[in-house]
Amino acid sequence: MIRSSGDSQVTSSHASRPALVDRFGRVHRSLRVSVTDACNIRCQYCMPAENVQFLHASRLLSFDQIEIFVRQAVACGVRKVRLTGGEPLLRPDLFRLVEHLNEIQGLDEIALTTNGMLLAKQIGPLAAAGLKRVNVSLDTLSAENFKVLSRRDGLSRVLEGIDATQSFPQVVVKLNALLLRDVNLVDVFDLMEFALQRALPLRFIEFMPLDSDRSWTQSRMVSGAELRSMIAERFGPLEVVKDRDPHQPAVDYVLVHGGGRIGFVDSVSNPFCGSCDRLRLTADGKIRNCLFGREEWDVAPLLRNSPDADRAIEELLRLSVWAKHASHGIDSPDFQPPARAMYQIGG
Ligand code: 5AD
Ligand code: SF4
Repeated sequence: MIRSSGDSQVTSSHASRPALVDRFGRVHRSLRVSVTDACNIRCQYCMPAENVQFLHASRLLSFDQIEIFVRQAVACGVRKVRLTGGEPLLRPDLFRLVEHLNEIQGLDEIALTTNGMLLAKQIGPLAAAGLKRVNVSLDTLSAENFKVLSRRDGLSRVLEGIDATQSFPQVVVKLNALLLRDVNLVDVFDLMEFALQRALPLRFIEFMPLDSDRSWTQSRMVSGAELRSMIAERFGPLEVVKDRDPHQPAVDYVLVHGGGRIGFVDSVSNPFCGSCDRLRLTADGKIRNCLFGREEWDVAPLLRNSPDADRAIEELLRLSVWAKHASHGIDSPDFQPPARAMYQIGG
């Protein structure tokens, strides 16, 4: 359900400009910036196995261009930026971008979503540059299943990346797991044990129809409800946490008999569009107002030395926010997945 309040009056606290409010009263505070569509693995739920055409380097926004865009978004009330990909750590010297974003007044938090393979080497400079949160995708603890799922070797590197990140207390680490019924549902309890032992929050994300192979089916997806009942059978009852943040897509639970936090992102079975506060910027400079949106607003030309760029960027941002639909409509019979797959949008 969409909140509707007198939100058109809402302003961003760090600037006198009005906040980014859509037709349904949703205020946009969170921006996901994809820095590349390239990836070093080929997760089945995201990429095709072969012949992936990545963007030519000349089409990627430069760090300076990303910074210009983020400054405008922050002036309009955005408070959080999450860097995504593809695999964002493939972008050389990503810590430089973090350093620059960290200087933006009014931006409260810079986060990263990564597959973890390159994290061990890069977490030092990233943490020093001001990175606050890292979400690492960890879908299995079996090297064999990792290979089936991601069509590459590399589990040990991911685990090294998690270890290395945990040695930086200023960085909050979370694990994201996506389970496919036919591949890694069998790994659910191992993932739980791993997260509990390390006191790392773990979130289970439902498989969405955003894979390039178009292999999504309702039965391949494992719903959050199904997982919760499997987990409850093994670990005892689960309870929703009391301090829930309505803008977080994950609903967090605790195990009543002790243990850590487990989140569920039930994007398909229980959409949370009503409280969505997110916008996206693709690696080639398109604004997207929804993961599933079929429309994009091309901001790249404005980031290439346009004279009155700031105002024009702001206008485009407002246009994209105003066009946002009430919900993604996955459950509607005429739902069409977007032309881009997850790695081209930014997870
Ligand atoms: N459905 C849901 N989440 C996905 N991701 C990638 N593809 C999909 C998909 N089809 C998410 C995974 C991964 C992150 C980078 O993007 O959670 O960990
Ligand atoms: Fe790469 Fe992430 Fe897609 Fe996996 S989900 S193939 S790690 S971009």
